[in-house]
Amino acid sequence: MKILVTAGPTREYADPVRFLSNRSSGKMGYAIARAALARGHDVVLVSGPVSLAAPPGARLLAVETADEMLKAVLDTVEWCDALIMAAAVADWRPARKSPRKLKKREMEPVLKLEPTPDILSSVRPRKGRRIFVGFAAETENIAAAARAKLREKGLDMIVANDVSKPDSGFDVDTNRAVLISADDATGQVELPLMTKDALADRILAWTEKAAAHFGL
Ligand code: CTP
Repeated sequence: MKILVTAGPTREYADPVRFLSNRSSGKMGYAIARAALARGHDVVLVSGPVSLAAPPGARLLAVETADEMLKAVLDTVEWCDALIMAAAVADWRPARKSPRKLKKREMEPVLKLEPTPDILSSVRPRKGRRIFVGFAAETENIAAAARAKLREKGLDMIVANDVSKPDSGFDVDTNRAVLISADDATGQVELPLMTKDALADRILAWTEKAAAHFGL
């Protein structure tokens, strides 16, 4: 299969040195890219700024902002059979971006924000028979919140994880996730704490199963 993976945070600049971002090491997305390669798939990895080595064999498209990530995904989505959106896209960006560094005294203590594009919603019209997998990083009502996102974003599956625990989610090498499928036959699987590599492999196995089901 041809698999498009997004990973890491985006950065939304107020000026050349100041930005808003999301907490994300990129570890989960990179683990998915490595697992896909190990299972023999072709991989394009669209990555925000992270300090991780590029998985050998993946085509890496390095981006910084949500706009750049959207463009890279739009340019590649027609190529792929499956899109796995593990990136932590910043939802807001400064409404004004200065091309030069602002002096402290020139800045207002309140930052006016505007929304960034929602990448999954923007590529939804191009879904066709492709498999779209999203992530939901939640701190409460995990499964219910993730199920709502699954429906709103028209996804085939969402990987819900509880980022309020020290051993799952941010920065660490382990994760505890619930895989929720739009297809009632596959339903919901609550996975125990496992390495991000093991979880990545489970996500890929599910994606392959869904692809077989779709006749891809
Ligand atoms: N996502 C996206 N574009 C955005 C924000 C998020 O495509 N601008 C994707 C993420 O990569 C993830 C899924 O949408 O796969 C859910 O992301 P999340 O930030 O949890 O969802 P939001 O829609 O931003 O909802 P919330 O109000 O909980 O922040």
